[in-house]
Amino acid sequence: MTHDAQTAFHFDVPHDRRDTYSQKWMNLPTTDCIAMCLADMDFQAPQAVTDAFAARVAHGIYGYTHYPDGLTQHITAWVQRRYSWSVAEEWIAMNVGVVASLCTIIRALTQEGDRVIIQTPVYTPFFTSIRNNQRVVVENQLVLEDGHYQMDFDALEAQARSAKLLILCNPHNPVGRVWTREELTRVGEICLAHGVTIVSDDIHCDFALSRPYQALAALDDAFAQQSITCLAASKTFNIAGLDTSYEIIPNPDLREKIAREKAGRGISKPNMFGLLALEQVYQHGDAWLEALCAYLRASHALLHAHLDPLEQVRCTTPEGTYLAWLDCRAYGRTSRELCDYLLQTARVRLTPGRIFGATGEGFLRLNYGTDHTTLRTGLERIAEAFSALAPA
Ligand SMILES: Cc1ncc(COP(=O)(O)O)c(C=O)c1O
Repeated sequence: MTHDAQTAFHFDVPHDRRDTYSQKWMNLPTTDCIAMCLADMDFQAPQAVTDAFAARVAHGIYGYTHYPDGLTQHITAWVQRRYSWSVAEEWIAMNVGVVASLCTIIRALTQEGDRVIIQTPVYTPFFTSIRNNQRVVVENQLVLEDGHYQMDFDALEAQARSAKLLILCNPHNPVGRVWTREELTRVGEICLAHGVTIVSDDIHCDFALSRPYQALAALDDAFAQQSITCLAASKTFNIAGLDTSYEIIPNPDLREKIAREKAGRGISKPNMFGLLALEQVYQHGDAWLEALCAYLRASHALLHAHLDPLEQVRCTTPEGTYLAWLDCRAYGRTSRELCDYLLQTARVRLTPGRIFGATGEGFLRLNYGTDHTTLRTGLERIAEAFSALAPA
């Protein structure tokens, strides 16, 4: 991707998102505070989305909407083109978000009291989706060795014996791993051996920055039959406020159970703008996405330039996502204390690692999905504040 191609998409332009109901940018203590928390980006969606919306706004009628013929075709074409994964159109089921999918699947495929494995530290709603539905969280803790997270397969094997479901996160939020074919194969084999259904939350798959994304279900037909893959264009094209996502469910029995659960909860109607956006980006978004990934890779240099000199902070380059996972345990403070300190001293809001589970204590998650001017300012402030902080 050339410099010209990147600038054509205006990723370098700062945008003021205050007063737009942005969850990320709300309730900041000062007007010059920078939000590097939450997982959405500060970039405008592709022009094709804005044009399609403008045409619909000019029409001015926003009545009940149905899923158009052709939508599943755009989805299967995208998955085939981007990931060489052949998906049949009837395997696709729509939903209003990946967290909604997780809750739907948990309810459809397990009973109260059943055990569900997650690989921690992990995206907080993995915990809450299980607990809010009266199921039991089983933590298969990831192992950190030399700044590199790996799965604990021995523990997974033991835990799988009494679990019904595993929720995988690929690429992994917050640790930034893009799981390899070998790792996914082992997960698939363990789950097959013990009859554990796999829910793979692959919402960040378009941000596999240093290794191609591999869907577990695409590795083996037996894995496909025992898994559900949750996907969306929402993270990729910064359209998460439009409540549109989908599941890939090759197994007709699982499909039927999940459809019944959705019908029982009245989940059926799409968001008109979510559909419009999805249609546009899956047909016309490839060049935008490639330029975005190049821009995010360039952001890694900024992360390292500012954070590597800090003795107490370890920042490994994320393999995927636009989230950096900073090991700040050397400060001997809780992640909440570190976050509060940065907010007060550096006017930058990060996410405390503790919210991703006990093994996230002492870590911070930094969202670098923003223009380089804002990123540089935020990083300069963090570096200055951390340089002045003595270990406890
Ligand atoms: C791993 C993961 N899954 C799901 C979501 C949220 O998905 P949705 O907004 O579609 O519910 C996020 C958002 O940060 C995420 O990181």
